[in-house]
Amino acid sequence: MAKKIIITGSYNASIFLKGERIPQIGETCTGDTYFISAGGKGSNQAIAAKFQGADITYIGKLGKDTYGKDAIHMYEKLDLNKSIYYDSTRHTGVAVIFIDRGGNNSIMVAPGANMQLTADEIVNVIQEQEDVLMAGFQLENDVGQICEAIERLHAMGVQTLLDPAPAVPLPEEVYKSITIIKPNEHEAALLSQIPIENSKDALKAGRWFIDKGVETALITLGEMGCVLVSQKEELFIPAPAVKAVDTTGAGDIFSGSFLAALSKGYTYSDAARYASCGAALSVTKMGVLEAMPGEKETYDLLKKEYGI
Ligand code: RIB
Repeated sequence: MAKKIIITGSYNASIFLKGERIPQIGETCTGDTYFISAGGKGSNQAIAAKFQGADITYIGKLGKDTYGKDAIHMYEKLDLNKSIYYDSTRHTGVAVIFIDRGGNNSIMVAPGANMQLTADEIVNVIQEQEDVLMAGFQLENDVGQICEAIERLHAMGVQTLLDPAPAVPLPEEVYKSITIIKPNEHEAALLSQIPIENSKDALKAGRWFIDKGVETALITLGEMGCVLVSQKEELFIPAPAVKAVDTTGAGDIFSGSFLAALSKGYTYSDAARYASCGAALSVTKMGVLEAMPGEKETYDLLKKEYGI
């Protein structure tokens, strides 16, 4: 039976605008596609893990407004286990996402209620649960509260995964409480100050995280693949080649799929291969929720690509 995963993080109602290119400073561009959907890195990761068959609980904070109600309605439809807090003084998180013809994106988030989620609220939910394999986090909430939650959970013996997106410098002492850190190449470069252009650079940045006290660093490199670095192994895993239409949320789907695979007993390296397949499938469609692959198509690609 799959072990339990808890994912804490943001919910953002997401407004997508697609056009030839992303507007420059001072410019107005005419786009061609618009839609509004559910997003937020925490919520995306939790839903991706659910789609991949994990026993998952999501922890988040919403405003008492229409977007917050939409989120609850969606979670009920998806039958997602959740512990939702509210802040009646803040709006539900909102993101505006620009996408160009090549599928590249640029995102601005107004976090609202997401910033009010506290370490106490997170730890209170997680300590009530039994058999938690891992607790996942990102940084679209208050960074101090997330770091405090990670440190307290680590002290309680709970394994933690931090997807440090969006990246900001982290307090030194948090690193030794992180079981797995999963930045993309930009986030890893910002945190380590090591420029990353290829897998060799990424392996170097991975070793930087290990020296800081993290157990395992999993650094994604977009269409190139990812590297896995720990005291025991150093590995480059190429990504399946696909035609990208929209890369929004690919990192979230990677994290959610990775955690789901771990919960089903995969090794870290096979879980990274599984997550690479989930993320690759997701970029072939527009949107995040709309593009989330299920278990069957992810397994099929895993078998075709890596023979697992
Ligand atoms: O990672 C993609 C997500 O970032 C989007 O869903 C958007 O809401 C922002 O949180």
